[in-house]
Amino acid sequence: MPDVSPAAHDEPLLADGTVHHVGQPVFVVAADSHLAARRAVRLARLEIAEAPAILTLDDALAAGSRFEGAPRVWTCGDASAAIAAAPHLVEGAIEIGGQEHFYLEGQAALALPQEGGEMVIHASSQHPTEIQHKVAEALGLPMAAVRVEVRRMGGGFGGKESQGNALAVACAVIARITGRPVRMRYDRDDDFAITGKRHDFRIRYRAGVDAQGRILGAEVTHHARCGWSADLSAPVCDRAMLHATNAYHIPAFRVESHRLRTNTQSNTAFRGFGGPQGMLGAERMMDHIAHRLGLDPLAVRRVNFHAAPTAPALRRTTFYGMEVQDFVLHDLVDRLAETSRLAARRAEIDAWNRDSPVLKRGLALAPVQFGISFTLTHLNQAGALVHVYQDGSIAMNHGGTEMGQGLFQKVAQVAAEAFGVGIEAVRITATDTAKVPNTSATAASSGSDLNGMAVLAACEEIRGRMAAFVAAEHQTDPARVVFADGHVHAGGAAYPFAEVARRAWMARISLSATGFYRTPDIHWDRIAGRGRPFYYFAYGAAVAEVVIDTLTGENRCLAAHILHDCGASLNPALDMGQIEGGFVQGMGWLTTEELVWDSAGRLRTHAPSTYKIPACADRPRVFEVDLWEGANALPTIRRSKAVGEPPLMLANAVFLALSDAVAACGDGTVYPALDAPATPERVLAAVARQR
Ligand code: MTE
Ligand code: MOS
Repeated sequence: MPDVSPAAHDEPLLADGTVHHVGQPVFVVAADSHLAARRAVRLARLEIAEAPAILTLDDALAAGSRFEGAPRVWTCGDASAAIAAAPHLVEGAIEIGGQEHFYLEGQAALALPQEGGEMVIHASSQHPTEIQHKVAEALGLPMAAVRVEVRRMGGGFGGKESQGNALAVACAVIARITGRPVRMRYDRDDDFAITGKRHDFRIRYRAGVDAQGRILGAEVTHHARCGWSADLSAPVCDRAMLHATNAYHIPAFRVESHRLRTNTQSNTAFRGFGGPQGMLGAERMMDHIAHRLGLDPLAVRRVNFHAAPTAPALRRTTFYGMEVQDFVLHDLVDRLAETSRLAARRAEIDAWNRDSPVLKRGLALAPVQFGISFTLTHLNQAGALVHVYQDGSIAMNHGGTEMGQGLFQKVAQVAAEAFGVGIEAVRITATDTAKVPNTSATAASSGSDLNGMAVLAACEEIRGRMAAFVAAEHQTDPARVVFADGHVHAGGAAYPFAEVARRAWMARISLSATGFYRTPDIHWDRIAGRGRPFYYFAYGAAVAEVVIDTLTGENRCLAAHILHDCGASLNPALDMGQIEGGFVQGMGWLTTEELVWDSAGRLRTHAPSTYKIPACADRPRVFEVDLWEGANALPTIRRSKAVGEPPLMLANAVFLALSDAVAACGDGTVYPALDAPATPERVLAAVARQR
């Protein structure tokens, strides 16, 4: 039975003796049409002997059902001693639900058999190289005999890092047997039932704090529901741990992570990759501390922030030993508090709430500090292939995939700028494992960081050859040849780029090059929990205002003010799109998107009729997004910063604002027990507890 797992070799293409969860594929039907295949599927009769199922976190804990044996623990200093010695103890817990990716285009793959047993695959995948690897393994072919092409995806959001393997392998196997092209796509209900989602978490925290709310020591425990196979759960849970302190300097810290194995879909990558869960735990703890001590939540955040870059390194080192070199949140949060009129609105909302018995408003600010790089260090590499044709047109290929985030546009800009030509001269070609090999998934928000640099390296190589050629003609220094305005300028003359390309070709100069990039200076020991897993951090903050109806629990976000750090933005329009989209997707995760399994382990929310993603009408009526001005302190591509995932976590502000609105229903003594998603039912129950 072919294996379709990304690493652990624990996912047979079809259930092999044991069905691990309701929805696991047990057979495949091949037919001449999609409809005929669906009809044939309905004829099947399955006889499966029932076995006790482990469905929930508690089931898994009781049964000791887990991955990686023991829980993973990372520490810095003696957290429990620091907590014991602190003047105040704040402890609590939060349950955080999962999330379905709901990419508009479902999982899909097509296999085209070639001569000599070779196979070509077209897939909706963030990870063409992995598809190539799994298909080659399944067919017993070398990787060189399998070519995978990805034109673009109708959304991936992490759900197409590993979850497309099964479709591509199934198509390839049947194409091999039949000798005919084979295509497969999941319909929406099947996609929900089969594929993994965001991990649901339970987070417990204990913090020892002083009178200003400064954390002297803290202990955090993560329980993550991983589903039936390992998939990417280990790195997802690692990233949750790495973000368990978000933007805060906690001198003594301990985080313990339990990766629990359950008979449910195998949870996988989802925008933020564990970071959102870890970070929400940290923000919840901050809010709880402020509430307990009667302090301003922003003041508590400020005293706990990492120190500014001018301060001694010790005050701005993470619990895993990484120095934070470019901490901009002090200034960024000051500016956002000002532009969003945070203090004035706090007073207005408090006054409004006093006169409003049924509707209550809430307000909160949440900062984001998200680490950029794959924590698996070797994945931080990328390749590119650039050709300049004799007519001056440029074909560009790299290992990244396009899923709506605008990567191809950004990378094409880099190439156009390198040659000093208009973007229309650059052809963006489909991602193709035969053109650029051994690529990493387009993930961890690092698509433009990695592929932009690889493309730039290839362009610079070709440009150097063209410059040397032109310089020789003009008896000048190649460094003084300038590529700008569609022309090559040398020795006072200017030639159209296309003319130089043609003459260079005539002079037998190679106009094709590969480029390669690897992120420098990163190293990470995931067992010890020490090192520099990230090249840098992306920052942002959001202020959200919400209103709840205390009779129904219904709620909405009225206003969101966002200030987000993209470094020197490669493309402000695309970055704004990522910020707005990420925020709204995060808001869906924390408010309306609820996954419900019944006691038999069936996912009952498997279509838009029962699973509610945000629609246009759900976006805040006041939605002000600004880009923080400031280049990346590190030499990334054009000093930009990655933007794909970090904005999702800005939505933590919405959840905290809902909690604030619930708190306004009581006398202020009890911190609201509110879990995510904050659906109307949960808000209503939390309001009832406050009263
Ligand atoms: N934006 C759109 N429109 N569609 C997507 O599928 N995926 C997100 C983010 N933004 C996604 C998106 C995820 S999970 C990641 S990791 C990044 O884009 C990947 O692209 P990048 O590395 O080029 O930012
Ligand atoms: Mo994104 S979750 O890293 O694909």
